[in-house]
Amino acid sequence: MMSSENRSDFSASCSSITEEARAKINLALHVTGQRPDGYHLLDMLVTFADHGDRLDFMRSPTDELTLSGRFGEVLAGDGGTNLVLKSRDLLRQAIGTVAFPVRIHLEKNLPVASGIGGGSADAAATLRGLMRLWGTTLSAETLAALALKLGADVPMCLESRPLIARGIGEKIEAVPDLPAFAMVLANPLKGVSTPEVFRRLATKNNPALSLAPSPPQTADWLAAIAAARNDLEPPARELVPEIAVISAMLEAHGALLTRMSGSGATCFGIFATMTAAEGAAAALHDERPGWYFQATETVSGGA
Ligand code: C5P
Repeated sequence: MMSSENRSDFSASCSSITEEARAKINLALHVTGQRPDGYHLLDMLVTFADHGDRLDFMRSPTDELTLSGRFGEVLAGDGGTNLVLKSRDLLRQAIGTVAFPVRIHLEKNLPVASGIGGGSADAAATLRGLMRLWGTTLSAETLAALALKLGADVPMCLESRPLIARGIGEKIEAVPDLPAFAMVLANPLKGVSTPEVFRRLATKNNPALSLAPSPPQTADWLAAIAAARNDLEPPARELVPEIAVISAMLEAHGALLTRMSGSGATCFGIFATMTAAEGAAAALHDERPGWYFQATETVSGGA
């Protein structure tokens, strides 16, 4: 059963477990090949925002999912909460013993199908939250395999810290030296079909991501990221011309570096300070009140 409601009503009524589902940001995404099953081989430098969805979990007489947040209605309409429910069902199946019914509340703050991993982050948060609520643990390997079944980005969302991911996203290596960045996330609220973006790629065998050795200063990291790419950005721009517009708007408001994340349409701008990022987000919102602009600080690798 799904319904929209105010999250504070939910939290006030009983004690619950909370998990953050942080936005995933692809600082770089190189498409380096394609597997025989059609999935693409990627090299990705990934970080996470201090902004995202929020999920609450509690014991309940029956299984239930409720929604709130700016984008909650979008999910209520099209069944896009699938990944939360799939994660619950898959974990229940994996632990084998009786797992009592749960009420899950999803505060959907991230735009849907937008390249910042909202659905994948929700899936990872559901696995984490329900393991806590049901008092169960799985081996790291079993958990990673479950996560990968739910989507290529779910294993990295389980980590929620700076990392390099290879393969289709399952080969993960922490990047402890990555600094925090002051960022604005920007989306024209046009959904992009990920398979369609991949289909439009001009070439699938692009140069790998090369970042070694780890740059010591933020400015060096910025130069290294600027020298990398998101290979999905050109085909996504063909599908959604607003990506070029929003990217130019971020630059006009002082972003040091702008790029699209994932298969789009969310773009990020990196700013010199959080004050600059917050000022830019407010000004951008005034220019295009219907679009999504969010200032956020990303997590640092050493945190
Ligand atoms: O794994 P996820 O559900 O996020 O992927 C959505 C779609 O994107 C896949 O069905 C596939 O068409 C495409 N994809 C891909 N290579 C990847 C990840 C996704 O071709 N590494």
